[in-house]
Amino acid sequence: MADITISNLVKTYPGGTERATDDVSLHIADGSFTVLLGPSGCGKTTLLRMLAGLELPDSGAVSIGGRDVTYLPPNKRNISMVFQSYAVFPHRSVRYNIGFGLQMAKVPKEQIDKKVQWAADLLQLTPYLDRLPAKLSGGQRQRVAVARAIVVDADVLLMDEPLSNLDALLRLNFRSELKKIVQDLGTTTVYVTHDQSEALSLGDQVAVMRKGRIAQLGDPLDVYDAPSDRFVGGFIGSPPMNFVDAAVTPDGELVVGDQRLMAPSLLRSFGNHNIVLGVRAENVSVAKDRESGYIAATVLVVEPMGSTILLTVDVEGQTLKVQAPPSFRTAPHQTIWLGFSPNTMRFYDRETSMALEAN
Ligand SMILES: Nc1ncnc2c1ncn2[C@@H]1O[C@H](COP(=O)(O)OP(=O)(O)O)[C@@H](O)[C@H]1O
Ligand SMILES: [Mg+2]
Repeated sequence: MADITISNLVKTYPGGTERATDDVSLHIADGSFTVLLGPSGCGKTTLLRMLAGLELPDSGAVSIGGRDVTYLPPNKRNISMVFQSYAVFPHRSVRYNIGFGLQMAKVPKEQIDKKVQWAADLLQLTPYLDRLPAKLSGGQRQRVAVARAIVVDADVLLMDEPLSNLDALLRLNFRSELKKIVQDLGTTTVYVTHDQSEALSLGDQVAVMRKGRIAQLGDPLDVYDAPSDRFVGGFIGSPPMNFVDAAVTPDGELVVGDQRLMAPSLLRSFGNHNIVLGVRAENVSVAKDRESGYIAATVLVVEPMGSTILLTVDVEGQTLKVQAPPSFRTAPHQTIWLGFSPNTMRFYDRETSMALEAN
């Protein structure tokens, strides 16, 4: 096992005008699970492929377990990889597919058999060992790809959107299984996804990427709770974080349109500024009648979600999503009241979109 240090990786593809990764630095602790999360085209796969040795950077370095591997070929890095298009050999048995890497490494046959059996048990593939992948479901084929990756004793496990070809339910089930398997293995894992819920559920740390750069690195709850900029807040969470244009008066009061909100005291340092208030749907309290410190909103859409009701509301010409308890009865055009608790409010600069720090 090994930690990974990524230092200032820059990569531009031939003919590309933008950098696919733009000065990315990141430390991945030994045995940890790190997720690279971001929209399509932000450079996740490129970064992973540079860890694997399938792409070379223009500049910067990668070290695994303290060894500089930047220019080493993939087979000299002791890594194992699972791809999105789980390239299994369709005309070879599941057993052959799982053992393939070991066979290439010229591991003795009885050891291969043992490891294949171990991985097949772990991934519930034992009944299918002699079948052809063509006769398996998508989920089972994906398990074969994971089994093949974990039988080789790699220092690092790299996975690129390994669940994206599965349907929603299978994805959810396999996600927690995968988490358990990787936890038990204890192998340093780097996992790429564009799915924010997957990233939050799997990662010890999440690196949110945008345009070839890391926008925020943190543990999942921190990244969710305190996005470092509006991009991260808008990308993570379902619904995304609400952003509301607000103003801070010279004496530190927070106002949205004509209405005044209870604000944390740190706002005094931003006196006389236009800012953006960030707040998650579940952190807004809703009331049918006016309450002290609450502000008025008009209901636009009511969506029962089962365990909660998602409301789309208008506050002073701005649209917000808020969560109400399932017992909350309301309808479009009604006025309701919203309460914001100061400790769940986040504040962003109107121009730069970066989180504001109290000074
Ligand atoms: N083989 C390639 N040749 C040229 N450009 C590429 C190649 N692979 C990726 N890119 C470009 O590099 C950027 C990052 O791509 P990629 O790493 O695949 O992003 P992601 O995995 O986050 O979707 C994108 O602009 C993409 O178009
Ligand atoms: Mg990709």
